[in-house]
Amino acid sequence: MIVTAEISEVRLTRWAAPAATWGLVPTMGYLHEGHLSLVRRARAENDRLAASIYVNPTQFAPHEDLATYPRDLARDLALLEAEGVDLVFTPGDEVMYPAGFQTYVQVEQLTRPLEGASRPTHFRGVTTVVAKLFNVIQPTRAYFGQKDAQQSVVIRRMAADLNFNVEVIVCPIVREADGLAMSSRNARLTPEQRQQASVLHEALYTAMTALLDGEQDGDALRAIMGQTVQTRSLARLDYASAADPLTLQELSQVRGDVLFSLAVFFGNVRLIDNLLVTR
Ligand code: PAF
Repeated sequence: MIVTAEISEVRLTRWAAPAATWGLVPTMGYLHEGHLSLVRRARAENDRLAASIYVNPTQFAPHEDLATYPRDLARDLALLEAEGVDLVFTPGDEVMYPAGFQTYVQVEQLTRPLEGASRPTHFRGVTTVVAKLFNVIQPTRAYFGQKDAQQSVVIRRMAADLNFNVEVIVCPIVREADGLAMSSRNARLTPEQRQQASVLHEALYTAMTALLDGEQDGDALRAIMGQTVQTRSLARLDYASAADPLTLQELSQVRGDVLFSLAVFFGNVRLIDNLLVTR
C-alpha cells in the first residue's frame, strides 16, 4: 500500500495503471465499520483502490469541531491495508489549500435546506475538496455513505454539472446494535449521551411507522420526530425533516418517496441520521 501526501506521487501511482478501474473512498479518517463497508464494496468493484484521509477545514465553520475532530492515522492506515487498499492520499492543508488559494465549487439550491440551513458554508467546502480529489485521483467510481444523505445528492449534482467522469455510488448506513448510525463523532459522546443517542434512529422509525399507518401530513410527521427526540433529556433537536429525496424540499403532504432526516445536538456534538422511504 502506497501512502503519500504528495499529489505528484498519487498521479504517478494512478497512471501507472491507466487501463485499470480505480475506486476512491474519500474520508476524514477515524475510520469505523461504515467507512469499511464503502472500502469493501469499492475493493470488490474495482481493479485498484484509493482512499483519502483528510480533515477538510473548509467544510467546518469557525465555531465547529475542526480542532476536536477525532484523528488516528496509524490505526486508519492499518485498517485500510488490511482491506487491500492500494493507495492512500493523506495531504496536509498546504497541499490542498496552498497560499493564494481562492477557487471554490458551489452547488446552489440543493445546499440551502437541511444541513445547509444549519451549516451555511459546509457544502461549499465539501464540494470543493471532493472536486479536487476527483481531479487529483481521477477515479472510475467514488463511494459515499447514505448517512450524509444531502452530501450524496449534492456530490451527484456536482459530478453531473461539472462533467466529472466518475460514477458516484452511495452505500447504505451501517448502524450500531441499538440503531445509532456509525459516525466518527460518536466517539465524542459521554456514556450518558451515547446511551440516549439511539433516539435519532427511534425518531426516524416512529415517523416511518406513522406514515405507514396513514399519516401523510408533513408537519405532523416532522412533529413526531421532534417529540420523540424531546423524550431524551440530553438531546436538543436542530431540525427534523420530511423532504423530497431528489429536491430536498420539505413536503407538505407525503404521497410518494420521502427522505426523513434529522440533526440532534448532545452537548456540542451534532449527530445526523436519515431514513429513505420509497413506495
Ligand atoms: O463525508 C465525509 O467524510 C467528508 O465530507 C468528505 C466526503 C470526505 C469530504 O471531506
